[in-house]
Amino acid sequence: MRLNSEARAVLGHTPIGMLALRAGRLPLFPDPRKRDDLFLVVGEVHNPRKQVPAENPQWLVIPERGLFTGVAILGAIGSGKTSCCMYPFAEQILVYRSGDTEKRINSK
Ligand SMILES: Nc1ncnc2c1ncn2[C@@H]1O[C@H](COP(=O)(O)OP(=O)(O)OP(=O)(O)O)[C@@H](O)[C@H]1O
Ligand SMILES: [Mg+2]
Repeated sequence: MRLNSEARAVLGHTPIGMLALRAGRLPLFPDPRKRDDLFLVVGEVHNPRKQVPAENPQWLVIPERGLFTGVAILGAIGSGKTSCCMYPFAEQILVYRSGDTEKRINSK
């Protein structure tokens, strides 16, 4: 059997157990400027036990009530805690209804 270059690339980096599953597609990232509710997208929901592509990919979301508690970001020095978490998380929160003086984050 001959494989094209794309198939060879996938097979070369994929554990055999993953081949039976096809990864679905994530929904579009919800634009922070157009959200009706306050929430924070922190990543993607993964299988808690296996390193396999999600059949039904979903965003991992912290709803508003979860944002009143602390959020811990763990990682080695220089691993991207600030650039990949703090900045994009802060942007999602700060642009939420930023044109609405009643609803925006600093309105109270
Ligand atoms: N995934 C990535 N790809 C490319 N560059 C990255 C990535 N993650 C971080 N960097 C770069 O690595 C550097 C360190 O990132 P950052 O400051 O976010 O790490 P940190 O975990 O907050 O560090 P510290 O522990 O010092 O606070 C920055 O210059 C950042 O742009
Ligand atoms: Mg940092």
